[in-house]
Amino acid sequence: MKVTVVGAGAVGASCAEYIAIKNFASEVVILDIKEGFAEGKAMDLMQTASLNGFDTKITGITNDYSKTANSDVCVITSGIPRKPGMTREELIGINAGIVKMVSSNLLEHSPNTILIIVSNPMDTMAYLVHKTTGIAKNRIIGMGGALDSARFKYRLAEALEAPIYDINGMVIGGHSDKGMIPLTRLATRNSVPVTEFLSEDRLEKVAADTKVGGATLTGLLGTSAWYAPGAAVSGMVQAIACDTHKMFPVSTLLEGEYDLTDISIGVPVILGKNGIERIVKIKLTDAEKSKMQESAAAVKKTNGLLEL
Ligand code: 2OP
Repeated sequence: MKVTVVGAGAVGASCAEYIAIKNFASEVVILDIKEGFAEGKAMDLMQTASLNGFDTKITGITNDYSKTANSDVCVITSGIPRKPGMTREELIGINAGIVKMVSSNLLEHSPNTILIIVSNPMDTMAYLVHKTTGIAKNRIIGMGGALDSARFKYRLAEALEAPIYDINGMVIGGHSDKGMIPLTRLATRNSVPVTEFLSEDRLEKVAADTKVGGATLTGLLGTSAWYAPGAAVSGMVQAIACDTHKMFPVSTLLEGEYDLTDISIGVPVILGKNGIERIVKIKLTDAEKSKMQESAAAVKKTNGLLEL
């Protein structure tokens, strides 16, 4: 399996590192526009191979898409990250042009590749890729929900004082500070609903902390997070590479599912060798349905800023 990661910044390099360490890919190509930057990141990562025990060949290239040819999966992390106090939506002006160019360049050399979109505002960037490339919707996957769900589980484990691997939970909706929908009703600790352990107020705080998980880290770090985003992408790529039929919440084009059309937004899907195998329709309460509609309205408002 050959994977290309566009953007050798913190998120892209973390993607490449976690993919390599999981050792399911034969090759990872990191591409950046900054002279030598991707080459340096790749060389540094390759010098961990004997220490971390992986066989994956990581190479870096400066702005030469021919080296990305025949990639099975391409991850788009390029664009500017947000600064403290910024929303993801404020990045659209610069990132839309970058994502449009990058996706076109990737498809020129890997016409059958699966695209994973990380650049923000992610749901709108994924929608942009649908509209500008016209490739099958199962091959365009927005990464947001996997990251938000990891933060949700972190907050639940914190509230429960439980090990994270005992926790299961999912976030759907838009990948935005206001649009995320942590499904507290369905979260479990060892298959026991967390509502058995936590009060409604405490669960509301868990949900609120989850929704601003990215902004909290941006405030602490001065830029967007990178470890968890990179790890989230690597898990999605592994599900595709190994055809595991694993369920993830991802941003995908809806055509009537969840009573939504003409939008890419976070819902549960099954990932396998062809990308999105199918959308999983879970029964939502009226309150959850209402939140989903509100979240979708905000995403569509941002989509409206695109010059398609
Ligand atoms: C985050 O939430 C970068 O959107 C990403 O950290």
